[in-house]
Amino acid sequence: MDAYELFERHVNPGLAGLLRFTGLDVVEDHAEGVYVWDTGGKRYLDFLGLYGTLNLGHRHPRVVEAVRRQLEKMPMSVRVMISEPTARLAARLAEITPGDLSMTFFGNSGAEAVEAAFKLARIHTGKPEIITTEKGFHGKTMGALSLTPKPDYQDPVRPLVPGVRVVPYADAAAVEEAIGPDTAAVIVEPVQGEGGINVPPEGYLRELRRLTEEKGVLLIFDEVQTGMGRTGRLWAADWEGVAPDLLTSAKALGGGVMPIGAAIGRAELFEPFRENPLIHSSTFGGNPLAAAAALAAIEVTIEEDLPARAEEMGGYLLESLAELKAGFPEFIEDVRGKGLMVGVEFTDADIGAIVISELAARGVLTAFGLNNPKVVRLEPPLIVEKEHIDQAVEALEESLRATGEMLAGVL
Ligand SMILES: Cc1ncc(COP(=O)(O)O)c(C=O)c1O
Repeated sequence: MDAYELFERHVNPGLAGLLRFTGLDVVEDHAEGVYVWDTGGKRYLDFLGLYGTLNLGHRHPRVVEAVRRQLEKMPMSVRVMISEPTARLAARLAEITPGDLSMTFFGNSGAEAVEAAFKLARIHTGKPEIITTEKGFHGKTMGALSLTPKPDYQDPVRPLVPGVRVVPYADAAAVEEAIGPDTAAVIVEPVQGEGGINVPPEGYLRELRRLTEEKGVLLIFDEVQTGMGRTGRLWAADWEGVAPDLLTSAKALGGGVMPIGAAIGRAELFEPFRENPLIHSSTFGGNPLAAAAALAAIEVTIEEDLPARAEEMGGYLLESLAELKAGFPEFIEDVRGKGLMVGVEFTDADIGAIVISELAARGVLTAFGLNNPKVVRLEPPLIVEKEHIDQAVEALEESLRATGEMLAGVL
């Protein structure tokens, strides 16, 4: 039995079916930079970047080398001694995150980072309520899922964690109205990813900061997808010069080599650990391999000024897509994004799905947003060159033409 059949039989038959529909029922083999190869030798341009994880591309040599060195020394922490890479990473995060965020809890994923932020907010304030946004995506563990208001994911597992209020995105007045005496925190993505690459109007984050401060409520920025340079700044919060009380990071933090999640917060939020050091913990969170990868990823991102690159290349990609949109008004409803976090909204989710499969046939990887299937997101590595963007946009143009021909044949 080949890997596809094993996956279908033993992992997830529905997902296997979806991959077959998009023509990606192939088996991945190896990857380098902006490219992935399947076991049949076909090369794909990776314009999905593992949902914003592969900011440095696949197998960045400096991250691989840092992990290899740590692997030879001590891959796992015994946890009853201090792990140097973990401590150094927390200190580095304190230097590079906005404002006075100085303490970090480490997990292994975005959802775990959000769980930690959720718990720290409740512990610190002694209040139960968290405000989240429509189409927000914060992960699928029970706490994070409770902040991710999508019926398909929430309804089968109710009851959820209580105390979550949902308000429209990009609407600070709605947040102000929702804040009550029991509100602990507001959690928001500075740019919504899975919700369909929704960029709020300038001033939204600043306004959230002003009103949460005024009302004595914590502000959590979920930068799991926007962080580490993706939007054109190291953190999307930097666009507005705003510092939250807690910032969650994951995805690109591990340099595209190791999984890691982090909830970075102001020191007073971590005071409860003095009295109760194991109030929240994780066996693998911030393990030495992941921490070594993250330390290297941070250095590469800053030294190579990848946020600036994301801004420049993102601008070029958006311009090219805007031109394309003008030629296909029947298919493309909108093109939007910030830096290299870009979405193409189709007039219909089915059109988007056909285009994804046409792109895959032409060797370009993309996917739709988990909370908005009408939007296909383009999140290539930040090391992408203009020629790669030209190649992807050309493939998209051909894919749209092929989709039109296919639909003309059916109708
Ligand atoms: C903003 C945001 N938060 C949290 C998560 C959850 O991260 P993970 O899939 O690593 O649990 C995601 C994943 O897409 C995300 O985009």
